[in-house]
Amino acid sequence: MTDLAIDVRGLSKAYAGRKVVDGVDMQVATGCIVGFLGPNGSGKTTSLRMLCGLLTPDAGEGRVLGLDFRRQAAEVKRQVGYMTQKFGLYEDLSIRENLDFIARLFSMPRRREAVDEALDRLGLSSRQKQLAGTLSGGWKQRLALAACLLHQPRLLLLDEPTAGVDPKARREFWDQIHQLAGEGITVLVSTHYMDEAERCDELVYIAYGRVLARGTAASVVREAGAKDLEDAFVRLVSQATDNFEPAA
Ligand SMILES: Nc1ncnc2c1ncn2[C@@H]1O[C@H](COP(=O)(O)OP(=O)(O)OP(=O)(O)O)[C@@H](O)[C@H]1O
Ligand SMILES: [Mg+2]
Repeated sequence: MTDLAIDVRGLSKAYAGRKVVDGVDMQVATGCIVGFLGPNGSGKTTSLRMLCGLLTPDAGEGRVLGLDFRRQAAEVKRQVGYMTQKFGLYEDLSIRENLDFIARLFSMPRRREAVDEALDRLGLSSRQKQLAGTLSGGWKQRLALAACLLHQPRLLLLDEPTAGVDPKARREFWDQIHQLAGEGITVLVSTHYMDEAERCDELVYIAYGRVLARGTAASVVREAGAKDLEDAFVRLVSQATDNFEPAA
């Protein structure tokens, strides 16, 4: 039994001949929270979609939750919770109706209990009749997290789950992520917020589809010769731009 929830090498994807993910290695230990950082368009969403079996890679080998992530993509999809970058639930359904709908899609047994449990776990029970469209950004994200936990995944791939959410709600969302990790759930989460990066066990930085740095926040800052995470980010991305960007 491996203690890596994700162990994938050489992940690659090109669109129209342009490599947007170019040989990314990703290792995430079980129960860890790994932050996935990189500028807009650096390939984070594309990588996450390949890791959860939604998008077929051009190259790459390895295992996600012990499964061959390419040959067993359908099984990977069933065991991974993926939260998309954009709110993808029904605004004209209530919180409970949204969760119930997803439980039906997964043909879940004991649907009512599963929905009750998800409502309870995310503190959504008292608002269960509220229409999703009337929720604040923070509560919408919490509902989206509840939805991707319904089928009890062991791995969460969260794509900018707190984009546009206020600081208090972001902090609460992250408390929730830590609680889930404490229960043994592994989390790979993309973010542009450096305070969130600080709360990860490890970080992976990418630009132009390639990994620039990885490790704990402290080691990334040290190795980049930076004063803090934001400074490290700016330095790494500037170096990458010098190295990778085609001359005009
Ligand atoms: N289906 C697609 N067809 C063509 N190009 C695509 C497709 N999906 C993504 N791309 C391109 O691939 C590159 C990487 O995109 P991706 O969405 O993975 O970046 P990202 O790191 O998630 O960015 P952001 O931080 O803005 O969310 C971008 O240049 C994007 O335009
Ligand atoms: Mg993205």
